[in-house]
Amino acid sequence: MLPRVGVLREGGPVETPVLLGRSRAMLEVLEEAHYAAPTESKVLITGESGVGKEVLAHVIHQRSPRARRPMITINCAGVPETLLESELFGHTRGSFTDAHRDKRGLLELADGGTVLLDEVGEMSMRMQSMLLRFLENGEIQRIGSEGHRISADVRVIAATNRDLFERTREKEFREDLYYRLNVVHLVMPPLRARQDDIRLLFEHFLRVLGEQYKLPICQLADDAVEHLEAYHWPGNIRELKNIAERVAVRYAGQQLTARELPRNITTRNAPAHGANGNGSAPAVPPLADVLYDRMTRNGESFWTVVFAPFMSRDLTRETVRAVVRRGLECTKGNYRLMAPLFNFPATDYKRFLNFLQKHDCHVPFQHFRLIARPGARPERGEGAATPGAKVG
Ligand SMILES: Nc1ncnc2c1ncn2[C@@H]1O[C@H](COP(=O)(O)OP(=O)(O)OP(=O)(O)O)[C@@H](O)[C@H]1O
Ligand SMILES: [Mg+2]
Repeated sequence: MLPRVGVLREGGPVETPVLLGRSRAMLEVLEEAHYAAPTESKVLITGESGVGKEVLAHVIHQRSPRARRPMITINCAGVPETLLESELFGHTRGSFTDAHRDKRGLLELADGGTVLLDEVGEMSMRMQSMLLRFLENGEIQRIGSEGHRISADVRVIAATNRDLFERTREKEFREDLYYRLNVVHLVMPPLRARQDDIRLLFEHFLRVLGEQYKLPICQLADDAVEHLEAYHWPGNIRELKNIAERVAVRYAGQQLTARELPRNITTRNAPAHGANGNGSAPAVPPLADVLYDRMTRNGESFWTVVFAPFMSRDLTRETVRAVVRRGLECTKGNYRLMAPLFNFPATDYKRFLNFLQKHDCHVPFQHFRLIARPGARPERGEGAATPGAKVG
């Protein structure tokens, strides 16, 4: 069975979705969701990985008149196109080698309910066209069923951690589909923008996990909270939940101070008032470091994390240069190695360099090679980061 393809949750999810939050940013999203939920409007949910997009989709379904009907989640990423097509639309017996009997698609199974198209930004162009056709007329044609169409009444919620608008500009996502899906747009804020939720969430997971494993529940000391709130959470709530699980088991029943937290939480993120004693707000790591960590630790791509926000003017040139400098430090001045580091395919290398040069974000590499080889003089042309040049 393929993971997370067509998770059928008749009558709501197996695990009741809990969407905790009291921060202003979260309350604003919840208010918008509250108005959208009882309508038939399509909803697009965007936000970084692990922020709770899927949970929010469940909450919307549960607060809608469709709550008694199925909610089906379809993960559009990492599934071969033909399998996704058959999962979504179904097939008739004999329509391909392994089609031994008729099979209903998930859109048909969700009739009267809601479908969550998760990671919709990853759909191929062909699947996008098929989805658009379905959204236009609500009709499904199973693979192999010549001309026979079935109608299905489903509400569509789409989620993605991509900048879909940017994808339309890059011609990777159909503009007409984008506007069809983007009727109500809910943006889930990253956890670092929801500091007021951190203690609440951490204590919630300590309690839930303690109960689940039948262990005495840990208590959070104030100094631990300070570190948790100062950390930048590149993996968002999923990361927080994982850490809570680790400590809930390891330090069951104990008081958790900063000493019991993983080192990556406490080392680079000393709370500001502890560090400078002036009681000011916790230190916020430089934006370039946050972006760098999202790519190198969280596996997100340069195109999503740096390129897209820069193009929509949410990032300055100086921040992009700072990210590139960190990359060069790591690769010892080798631009080519930044492809695997920043999670883009090697075939995008030229595009990457073109982007940096065109927007004056290019950073000379020589200095980083000199650091790597003390006393060495850079050879002329070595590592010259001009499009098409051989580098590294
Ligand atoms: N506000 C919240 N309250 C409680 N739990 C939450 C909240 N938000 C997220 N979670 C939990 O965090 C985990 C990640 O949430 P979810 O899968 O909804 O994120 P996502 O944004 O869809 O991530 P991805 O982009 O990787 O698919 C889940 O275990 C979920 O239950
Ligand atoms: Mg998700």
